[in-house]
Amino acid sequence: MRSSVLIIGLAIAAPFISTGCSKQVSFSADVQPVLNEYCIMCHDGKGEGSEKSGYILTSYTDVMTGTKFGPVIVPGDSESSTLYRVISGKVSPKIGMPPTGPASLAIGRGHELKPGQITAIQKWIDQGALNN
Ligand code: HEC
Repeated sequence: MRSSVLIIGLAIAAPFISTGCSKQVSFSADVQPVLNEYCIMCHDGKGEGSEKSGYILTSYTDVMTGTKFGPVIVPGDSESSTLYRVISGKVSPKIGMPPTGPASLAIGRGHELKPGQITAIQKWIDQGALNN
């Protein structure tokens, strides 16, 4: 009984998940784990990323506070958010994050995010960049 309810639930949810329309992205479940894996080795308050830019990525408050020049997230507007622009290749590869290219400051030490992770962060910003 239980499993059939689950299967029906999945069948209903699947089209929404694949088009991504209604899924609420969670900061703690979907976004912070990606930052922990790809960013905080340089942006933990001691690494070169946080030293150069002032950007710390270890908590929601820090993520929203931004760099020494101010916030890099515009809630509801990923295209205007520096954070989204640097991870999605919408800026010069020289300043893309994590730094991966030969021209970057930290050669070879950053690993590119997977497309699904970039989309999750984009959606989280577009859904209001909530502390959820
Ligand atoms: C290998 C080290 C490293 C990793 C990994 C890294 N960064 Fe950075 N990050 C830097 C450095 C160094 C700077 C400062 C660049 C500068 O000032 O030219 C920076 C700057 C930034 C900035 C400010 C850019 C600007 O134009 O103001 C943002 C936003 C940022 N990083 C986000 C991220 C995110 C998100 C991740 C993970 C997906 C990440 N970084 C991973 C080293 C890193």
